[in-house]
Formats: sequence, C-alpha cells, structure tokens
Amino acid sequence: MDYTMGKLHSAFFLTAVFAGLFISGAAKSSSALERQPNSDYHVRREALAKKAAGVVVLFAATENDGPNDLYGFRQDDNFYYLSGLSEPGAALLIASAAEAKGDAPARAYTEILFLPPRNLTQEKWTGPKLGAENAEAPKITGFDRVEDMGRLPDEVAKYVGGARPAIYTDVSTHGETSPSAAPLAFLKRLNAYLSFQDVKPMISSLRTTKDAGEMALIQKAVDASVAAHFAAFKAVKPNVNEREISALMQYEWGKRGCERVAYAPIVGSGYYSTVLHYSDDDNVMKSGDVVVIDAAGEYSMYASDITRTLPVNGHFTARQREIYDIVLGAQSAAAAAFVSGKSTIRGDGPDSLYKVAKDYINAHGKDLHGEPLGKYFIHGLGHSVGLNVHDATDYSVPLGPGQVFTIEPGIYIPEENLGVRIEDDYYVDANGKLIKLSGALPSGPDEVERLMTK
Ligand code: GLY
Ligand code: MN
Ligand code: MN
Repeated sequence: MDYTMGKLHSAFFLTAVFAGLFISGAAKSSSALERQPNSDYHVRREALAKKAAGVVVLFAATENDGPNDLYGFRQDDNFYYLSGLSEPGAALLIASAAEAKGDAPARAYTEILFLPPRNLTQEKWTGPKLGAENAEAPKITGFDRVEDMGRLPDEVAKYVGGARPAIYTDVSTHGETSPSAAPLAFLKRLNAYLSFQDVKPMISSLRTTKDAGEMALIQKAVDASVAAHFAAFKAVKPNVNEREISALMQYEWGKRGCERVAYAPIVGSGYYSTVLHYSDDDNVMKSGDVVVIDAAGEYSMYASDITRTLPVNGHFTARQREIYDIVLGAQSAAAAAFVSGKSTIRGDGPDSLYKVAKDYINAHGKDLHGEPLGKYFIHGLGHSVGLNVHDATDYSVPLGPGQVFTIEPGIYIPEENLGVRIEDDYYVDANGKLIKLSGALPSGPDEVERLMTK
C-alpha cells in the first residue's frame, strides 16, 4: 500500500484504508490481520454481557507498552476477542439488558466502542487510525455505537449508581499489568465506593470454546507451522547452528501469512534437548545428538504450538529410538483414551489424560539405573491454545466440542543428553471426535528419518 503524505490526510483515502482493513472480512492484505465477520465479535459481547450482569469496561493495549519496541504493537487478547480491533488505546463498554426494578427503568443491551482522538503527528509513525468522528465507524467496527474516548466517564457514570457500584474489568492479579488499570483509576477518584470485579474468568470461560472462524485461523497457524517443520526436517544436519533452523522456520511461516512467532522458538540439541524453555538456540548441532524443535507461528492473532524431535544426522540411535517410541506411545495412549465431555488435560484423577501418559511412560523403558521413566516427564501434558499459546481457559470444564489443546508428553534425561518431546494440536469437533490439527506433520520415527534423508 502506498502511504504517501498527500493521501494520508485525505478522508477518502482513510475510508478506503479502513474499508480494506475491516470490511473486506476474509481478505488479508500484508498489513492487516484476517478478521472474522463483525457478527462473530458481537455474539461474544452479548454473551459476556449476560454472564457479567453488569457493566463491563475494558481497555485496549496502547502503543506505548514496552514490548512494542521489540515486537511491534499487539492488541490485548481479551480486547481483541471481543472486538477484532487492533486500535491501540481504545476501550469498550458493554452492559446487559435489565428489567425495571424500583425506581430504575428497564435498560436495553448497550455496547459502545470508545476511540482515542486521532493524532496525525503520531500517525506519521504508526499509520492511519479510525476516529469516532468517522460516520462509518459503527459499520466498520460492528459496534452499535462508537464514541470519542472523552465521552467514556459520562457513559460509565450512567451504570455505576446505587449503593455498591461495580465495574467488571481486567483487574491486575499476581503482579500482572493490565491496560485497564491506569485508565480506570480516575473513576475510583470520582466514586470511592466503586469496586472493580475481575472480568477475566468470564472471558476465559467464553474463550474455552472456539467458534468456526477461530478454528479457521488456528488451522492456518498450524498449517504454516507444519510447513516450517517440514523445512526444518530438511535443514537439520550436523554442524548447522540451531539459530539457522529457528530463522528458517520463522521465514517459512512468515511467508505463509503469520505475523509473528506464537512463542520464543526452542531449538535445543544434545544436552539442551533436556532444557524445557531453552531459547538461546545458538549451539552447533552435533552428529549423534537429537534436537528438540518446539516452534510455531501466530496467524491473525491465533497461536499454534508444535514440537518435533529429530536425530541431527538423520538416524536415531537404538536408545534414542527407544525413548522416542515411548514418548510417541504416551501421546497415542492419551489421544486414544480421550472421551469428549469427560477427559481432562490436567490433574491425575480417573479422567486425566495426563495420568494416562504418565502411566504409559512409567510402564515402558528404564533409565540407566533401572528406574522407571515417569520422573523424567517433568511438565504437564498439555494446555489450551487460542489467542495465546497458553490460552485463557476454564480448565475445570472437561475437554469437549470446540476446545483446542496440545498433547505433548516428553522425557528429559540430562545424564544421557537426551530429551524427546512430541507435541501436536488437537480439536474436538461438534460430534465429540478428537481431530489432530497438525496431523499432516509426520511423527513416526521411520517417516521422520525418511523425510530427513530423502
Ligand atoms: N511451546 C510452549 C509449550 O509447548 O507449551
Ligand atoms: Mn505446548
Ligand atoms: Mn510447544
């Protein structure tokens, strides 16, 4: 796109840009995320309003947030989930419908998007933004109303009367920072009785189940990452630096539309195959070692998460293959034990897939001291995947239709410089069937060796 200054200030051009960014729906340009139809986000806002039974006020991330210098602006996950908008510094208000009670009149469902005033100087650095003065803003964003940010205090005030006024918002917990904390502090000064309730568990509960549009985006993230792993199969060789593999993979999924990594790529060989969050990725790979490659891209805000373990020289030793087969067997056993609406990925109760995998590992193979291998499976079996690689989810809900999660057993034996993890992404379809989203990427040891050496 040609962002010349003359065009930048033309109202017509801006309308064209926002039509391109927002209205075209499925069409993806190099600068825009692929967005679901406005109605999908609207459904989520209405569902949240029902859960919260009060006013929800949530702020977007801002362009001044620290990590933007390193990775560029990325919208807050929850704000994106409810709006599909990448506007920095925006806010949204959602209020459920309420019946008349006492003096209070009945209230209809309300949703308002607040946009910060445009700053044309800033836009020279960060690109054109949508302003509330644009008459098309409701149509473009799908919000019933779009207002300037300056209107927010008055609009919020309409909902916070009464003896114990509460706003559902992103309350910072455990030292996390929240884009909503600072902007809402002023409301507290206006009304000392105001309390803030954490809206995150309610949004997490909604995010637990993916809709069809989300599934399409996750599948694109997975497909691009599968292609990157295929490229890694070919590029892993003795004397190649781990970083070369990480760089190649980022190129491969970037070429397929991913805007960034879904998490810091892990390419760890030899001893570092046993280090779970190794991300230096700077060792020269040696013949006779294995390399754990846990790397995947993010497509239009949706993550994928895939791990393969490869023999650096293209052939597993007998011992490496023994451990590899046990990890693969544990993954297969967990997938085979899956029962929709019953299984859990965490815990060690009777329905836990973690327990299935752990029991399998303990029942197969031994370490160099004749001990069972379960103690070398040192992390959980999996997690939900969505807007975040470790997605906000209600883990108390058993795995069921619409859920996306990883199954990723691993065995890490530092004494043998031998770590093996195999990680795939799974989806439960409407009939409760478990679908392996990353199934196009082989994990059988013969197939892996064949692909590396052919
Ligand atoms: N790549 C992060 C994880 O597997 O959970
Ligand atoms: Mn994972
Ligand atoms: Mn992973």
